[in-house]
This record gives sequence, structure tokens and C-alpha cells, in this order.
Amino acid sequence: MIDINKIRADFPILSRKIHGHDLVYFDSGATSQKPKTVIESMNRYYREINANIHRGVYEMSVESTELVDEARKDVAGFIGALGEEIIFTRNTTESINLVAYSWGEENIKAGDAIVITKLEHHSNMIPWQELCRRKGAELRVIDVNEKGELENEKEAEKINNAEFEVVVGGWRNLLDNKVKMVALTGQSNTLGTVPLLGEIVPMIKRKSPQSLILLDGAQMVPHMKVSVVKLGIDFLAFSGHKMLGPTGVGVLWGKKEILNKMKPFLFGGDMIGEVKLGGSTWADIPSKFEAGTPDIAGIVGLGEAIKYLMSVGMDNIHEYENNLLKYALEKMKTLKNEGLILLYGTEDINRGAAIAFNVKGIHAHDTAQILNNFGIAVRSGQHCAAPLVKSYGVEAMVRATFYLYNTKEEIDYFVDKIREVPKVFA
Ligand SMILES: Cc1ncc(COP(=O)(O)O)c(C=O)c1O
Repeated sequence: MIDINKIRADFPILSRKIHGHDLVYFDSGATSQKPKTVIESMNRYYREINANIHRGVYEMSVESTELVDEARKDVAGFIGALGEEIIFTRNTTESINLVAYSWGEENIKAGDAIVITKLEHHSNMIPWQELCRRKGAELRVIDVNEKGELENEKEAEKINNAEFEVVVGGWRNLLDNKVKMVALTGQSNTLGTVPLLGEIVPMIKRKSPQSLILLDGAQMVPHMKVSVVKLGIDFLAFSGHKMLGPTGVGVLWGKKEILNKMKPFLFGGDMIGEVKLGGSTWADIPSKFEAGTPDIAGIVGLGEAIKYLMSVGMDNIHEYENNLLKYALEKMKTLKNEGLILLYGTEDINRGAAIAFNVKGIHAHDTAQILNNFGIAVRSGQHCAAPLVKSYGVEAMVRATFYLYNTKEEIDYFVDKIREVPKVFA
């Protein structure tokens, strides 16, 4: 059970007023708000500890190093991994690029195929497009149906005028022995779709056993209990800032035996074994992939965010959000049935707490602007998922995303204010 009043009191920003109204923050999909403990842990780090890691024998440097080690353990425990398998990056985007370069350069060649889905955020699309372009590999895209689900049976169809080979279709037709990487999202940031990984992962292993699987966990890890072992994947990428942590720190988890074989992505200090003028060797994982001074305060903040999430309980958070989602979808369905809004993705699919919609005849940015005047923060635009948004025949959508600090009262207010939007243009 979640004690919502206690939780809300932990987030100082929620007492902010916007245009004279209580803030209703429905944009946690873009970035989450931070509890006091996270803010204070970073503050304390800078006030009392601040020193570089791995660089000194003096007290503060040792403490700093210990804090990073502790946060790494916290992250590992959170997703059921080993500490050495946790690589700190800047964000999900950097984590995916790390794999696309480091693993991709060595393992992808002309004639190979990489599978992504049309649900992907640009972060899990463009690095693979670019790898395909560099290597002459084929990009295969699992299509999305009207409901917002990934297609299973759809015939494979080649895209004309693509800059490299691109084929779109369903799972059954796109998995074979050419596939070397399947990179897919754990939850769509736009429609909220949660792909049925319990079916998809075994299917990949059956039809493309040679392929690795990378999961974009940016919208998944903050909202549900994740075990990389149970999922049966090879890489998981996620961002601290979407899970109550600060911006500037992200995570790449990879299976130890795969990371050990990969070459570094960035070169420089802190990632070396031995350096000679004529050439160098690399440190073991995770240091091999962590060149340069990391965002130490950010890592400390992420560790604290994980402590907070665990103290509330990921199952509690998931259940609470699910109830909010159901409540909001019911209300939004009423607006849809009244002919006021268009909803993208249906309510009966497996989905997380994200709702994409448009007020009929009104541009998404205008709707978001009007809602902002009532103190409501929602995102509008293409949500870094342009091919998906355009496949619904629109250039932009409004998106509301919920997290553990949102309430049904906020949803009531939000739905009420959506009704006001067309009146502004009347
Ligand atoms: C599903 C998904 N993947 C990747 C990203 C990229 O995250 P970041 O900007 O933190 O790298 C986002 C951010 O919105 C996302 O929602």
C-alpha cells in the first residue's frame, strides 16, 4: 500500500504553484521529480565529501569512491545483477550508443540484420540505423497495430527509398538466423505499451538463438520490479532521472561474459590497465567502460533514489500506478465517446501509466499550453518517436504520464480542464 500523503510530502516541488494553481505534474515520462532524500544526498556530497574517485588515498577521495561502489551495488541489487556488470553512463541514450558502437562495430557485418520495433524512442532507433548504415546490415522493424501492440503475423514489407535495407513486419516473419541483435523497449514512452516479453524473449531465442537482446528500460525500470536474469536478456539500458534520481547519470547493464569481450567505447583516464607510449591495455569491467571522471554526485543521487523506490516497494508502485492508469483511462474513454478527444492505443492492451491523446481539431501544443495555464504539465509533440506518432496520421500528440506521487484528484482536475480546451477556441 502507498501512503500518498507521505509520499507527496517527500517531493518539495509538488507544493509549487503554476499560474496560481497547484502543480499537476503529468510528465514523469520525460523526467521524474526528486524526493528530498535524493536532493539532500547530493547536497551533502558536495558540502562534505567532494573529491575525485580512484585518485587519492586521502579520506574524502576514499569516501567518494566508497559512495560510488555502494551505489553500484544498490543498482545491481535493484535489477538482480552483479556489481561489475553495472556501467555508469550519462543516460539511456549513451548506454545504447555504447553497445551499438562497442559491440556493434565488432559483431555486425554486411548481410546481418538488427531488429527494432516501431514503438522505439529515437534513442533505441537511430544508433541501430547508423550501425546498419556503417556496416551494410539490414534494419528490421516490428510494426505496431491500431491498438498499439507489436505485430506478430504481419507480412514483411521492404521500405522503398530507405538509405539502407529496411523491412517492416511482424515477429514471426522477421526473426531468422541473420538477426544478430534485437533491441526493443520495455515500455513505450508514447503509448505506454508494455511488450509481452514473456512471449517475445522465448520466441527470439527459438527463432534467432544467435541474437543478443537489448532492452530499453528507460520507462520500465522506474515503474516495475525488474530482474535481468528472469527476463533472459543480454543488455538493459536506463536513466537515473526517470526513476527519482538526478539527470546526468544512466546505467548500462550487460552480461559479464559479453561485456568482458567488448572493446571500450571511450578511451582515457580510469579505464586503463597499463599505459605505454606504444599502446595501452584496459582495466576490467566496469572500469573499462567508464573513462574519465563520472558524475559522482549524480551516482550518489541515483543510489539514494533506488533506496527510496525500494522503501516504497516496486510492486506497490506498480499497483498504485496501474490503478491510476485504469481510473484515468475510464475518464478519457468518456471524453472519447463524447467525441471530444482521440485516444491513441487502446485501454485493453498490456500497458504502463502513459496516455497519448489529442483534443479533436486542436494542435497538441495548443492543448498543452492551455493545460499549462491551469498548472498541468503534460508533454506534447512527437515524443522522440516520430515514426510511431506519424503512423497514427498525426504530427503530434499530447501525453500524460503518471508516477507514484500522482493522485486520482489530479486526474479528475486534468479531465475537467481538458473539457475547457475547445472552449478557448470557441
Ligand atoms: C523509452 C525511452 N528510451 C530512451 C529514452 C532516452 O532517455 P535519455 O534521454 O535519458 O537518454 C527515453 C526518454 O524519454 C525513453 O522514454
